[in-house]
Amino acid sequence: MRQLSCCCRQLRNPVASFDISRIPNFTKYSAVKPINEDLAPHVCETMKAFPSRSKHVNQQHYYHNWDVLIKSYAQRKPHPMSLTQLAQYYDDSTKLTKQKIINSGKFVKEELAIRMAQKLKLLQQLPFCVVNNFHFVQVYESYYNIFERFRKFPQIRTLEDNSKFAEFSTSILRDFNTLNLPHLVMGALECTVLDLYPQDKMDELLSDLMRARISRRLIVEEHVSITQNYLSGKKENKLVLGDIFQQCSAKDYIIDASQLCQKFIRDMYFDNIALPELIIDGEVNLKFYFLPIHLRYLLYEILRNAYEATMKEYIRRGLQKPEAITVTVIENSQSFLFRISDRAGGFPYNDRNIWSFGKSKEKARESLANFHKLPGLQTVSIYDQLESDLAVPSVNKPYLNTSLDPIDHSSLTGQEFKFEKPLMKLLERSHRYKLGVGLAMCKVYADYWNGDLALHSIQGYGTDVVLKLGNLMNNVSKLQLDRV
Ligand SMILES: Nc1ncnc2c1ncn2[C@@H]1O[C@H](COP(=O)(O)OP(=O)(O)O)[C@@H](O)[C@H]1O
Ligand SMILES: [Mg+2]
Repeated sequence: MRQLSCCCRQLRNPVASFDISRIPNFTKYSAVKPINEDLAPHVCETMKAFPSRSKHVNQQHYYHNWDVLIKSYAQRKPHPMSLTQLAQYYDDSTKLTKQKIINSGKFVKEELAIRMAQKLKLLQQLPFCVVNNFHFVQVYESYYNIFERFRKFPQIRTLEDNSKFAEFSTSILRDFNTLNLPHLVMGALECTVLDLYPQDKMDELLSDLMRARISRRLIVEEHVSITQNYLSGKKENKLVLGDIFQQCSAKDYIIDASQLCQKFIRDMYFDNIALPELIIDGEVNLKFYFLPIHLRYLLYEILRNAYEATMKEYIRRGLQKPEAITVTVIENSQSFLFRISDRAGGFPYNDRNIWSFGKSKEKARESLANFHKLPGLQTVSIYDQLESDLAVPSVNKPYLNTSLDPIDHSSLTGQEFKFEKPLMKLLERSHRYKLGVGLAMCKVYADYWNGDLALHSIQGYGTDVVLKLGNLMNNVSKLQLDRV
């Protein structure tokens, strides 16, 4: 009875029970959890129902893509491709002709619009709070922008049309879209921290988007490369007509990656620190066709882990010198394998999430904080770019001036082709930035090339990481690029 009267008193005089001058805490009513300073500074912006400067995520547009996107392009199926198809367009000779170049241009224009439409549809089907994440929304905007630009590019009928198209495609590969890769990963990390989407689904989504991204870039790069070759008079080629695949010496690539790792270790400790011996055995002289940048990236990420763990163990146990790292090169009928063995005590914990992009919440938070330290990234938004496009002459756009893609003016003709610049930049990141996604990314890339990445840790002894890459020459007819 006494309780009841007390309660009535409070109801009669509600003001007395709390301080009315305080601003109500609206985050209680938010669909998502409160944000803290670990998240991107722009995230508050996207906590609104629609980001205010967005061209494609707004009331007018978001559901108004029905006719062009959903009813038209997204209905069409992408065309899975093999290396042979990529190279030969409509006949099976390895000679490059004017008609092939034009046909290739026509195909790439249509195919890219279809593939972008598929991915936009996929993103639209995600919960809105996921797409509306600052990083995912950048990717969404960028994808829509690419879709629109490829769709609206004029029909390709002549060699000149095609040259314009090749220039256009190259510029797309080099502009703000290069930030999509880090944005995808950061978006996934934020979703993990905020509990917005199940981890396994997020990993699936990211792998899917990344595989598709590799395919699209390959198709475009290959087209640009054959255009370049044709214009410069080189009209024949061995594996595919373009030059994006090269013969790679296993030993050279391993040594190259290990030198980068050694530099990284010296930067991390001091110049004269004892370094692990690198032993290369097995098919030491193996040479094989592969995409140079992908090979470089994969070997470096894996070796870097081995070096890092070996040095930690060397210091922890007070050894006379660090244990050696052994890379065994193996070739079998279907694939090339690299076994990287260290004696660094194995994985410190049994982490089933090792292949996941988000990992645990704590790890995701750490990785995200390191991503935010990458110079330039957290402050660059596609909206800045879209606006600066109008204001600044195209040669000097500020958005290009980020850590992930420094300005590069090499034009279509002449200079050497640079593939996947963002990947290179991730690879050259300073040791301070432990991003925690190396193994997850490598698995996607290995898997893409009909390969695999497996890991065997022997507690208290060391780790064997086996990188398997499919032999491209055995798979030229296989639908290698079918990760649409
Ligand atoms: N060879 C190895 N020996 C011991 N631990 C390893 C090894 N490779 C990876 N790890 C552990 O797995 C974690 C995740 O590796 P990775 O995905 O490459 O991300 P990062 O290296 O940025 O942390 C590392 O932080 C490390 O703890
Ligand atoms: Mg690593």
